[in-house]
Amino acid sequence: MTRRTTVVSTGAYLPQRVIENSHFEATLDTTDAWIRERTGIRQRHFAAEGQGTSDLAIRAAQAALDRAGMGVDAVDAILVATSTPDLTFPSVATMVQAGLGHTSGFAFDLQAVCAGFVFGLANADAMIRAGQADRVLLIGAETFSRIMDWTDRGTCILFGDGAGAVLLEAAEGEGTSDDRGILGVDLNSDGRLKDLLYVDGGVSTTGTAGKLRMQGNLVFRQAVEKLAQTAHTALDRAGLTPADVDWLVPHQANQRIIAATAQKMQLPMDRVVLTVAEHGNTSAASIPLALATADDEGRFERGDVVVTEAIGGGMAWGSVVLRW
Ligand code: UT7
Repeated sequence: MTRRTTVVSTGAYLPQRVIENSHFEATLDTTDAWIRERTGIRQRHFAAEGQGTSDLAIRAAQAALDRAGMGVDAVDAILVATSTPDLTFPSVATMVQAGLGHTSGFAFDLQAVCAGFVFGLANADAMIRAGQADRVLLIGAETFSRIMDWTDRGTCILFGDGAGAVLLEAAEGEGTSDDRGILGVDLNSDGRLKDLLYVDGGVSTTGTAGKLRMQGNLVFRQAVEKLAQTAHTALDRAGLTPADVDWLVPHQANQRIIAATAQKMQLPMDRVVLTVAEHGNTSAASIPLALATADDEGRFERGDVVVTEAIGGGMAWGSVVLRW
């Protein structure tokens, strides 16, 4: 028997305020048509004033618990993937713990920017397989609207706020690729690529939160090259091939990147979960939001092979393959 990490339920939360592309036409040299054509984005959500990343995370986490019909004390660990925490410390995860009334176990944040949720899945899986936890609540939550340079048309039109959560649970499998749960993981990073995508402030440098800076077309090229590669590696480790894939749930940064990755994997677009049009790029929240959206729509059947993949600042990138 092999210990596996299975998905019990999903949850999502998007702030109420919806910003359409036309919003940017008033202040920037851009158009709704350009944004749609070059990114696939139609709108994004922005958190309200005073609404922190932890507020979004708590709502998404509560939705996942409600869907599972489980109380929070059944959870051993709460992990939050975020690059936009409420405060420098404590972690958003401990704020979520307090917000949900979780009084046992442990909570911490992890930061791999847009790849944060994939890194979170891999780490939660390692903790569960090592016997450190039986149930993990993994949340991706971001308020990227707080780190935008509103004069930079190459970045501020791309990002949105939101949170998604998955409740993960240990299960016994046979140790084959027919098992439910996480079957293959591939994680990578290359710190030499820092200047392609970073925030120009921080605690030990400027003492400010800073603003996001990106060389979009260079990131685009890295993404197209690396995402299909990492998905192939994770599939290989799972003992599966692209032909076995039922759903690709990619990081939602740009529809053209997603389409290029799907094409490299020879996957038709109707097997790809797309939320980028409605959510924009919500960094670590984008995959759990997409998972929750597809789950809500009843698109995943038990036993389906689901591939997640993401790339972001660092650069850090990776893929997790699981059977629903
Ligand atoms: O989540 C982390 C990972 N991030 C990503 O995956 C983002 C990856 N990058 C992208 O999605 C795309 O590179 C962008 C959407 C950011 C830009 O699209 P692009 O097709 O790569 O455009 P580009 O940067 O090569 O720029 C082409 C032109 C430039 O004008 P010139 O120099 O040709 O006159 C830009 O200034 O498009 C211009 N441009 C815009 N025009 C209208 C850039 N942003 C805008 C805009 N509206 N919002």
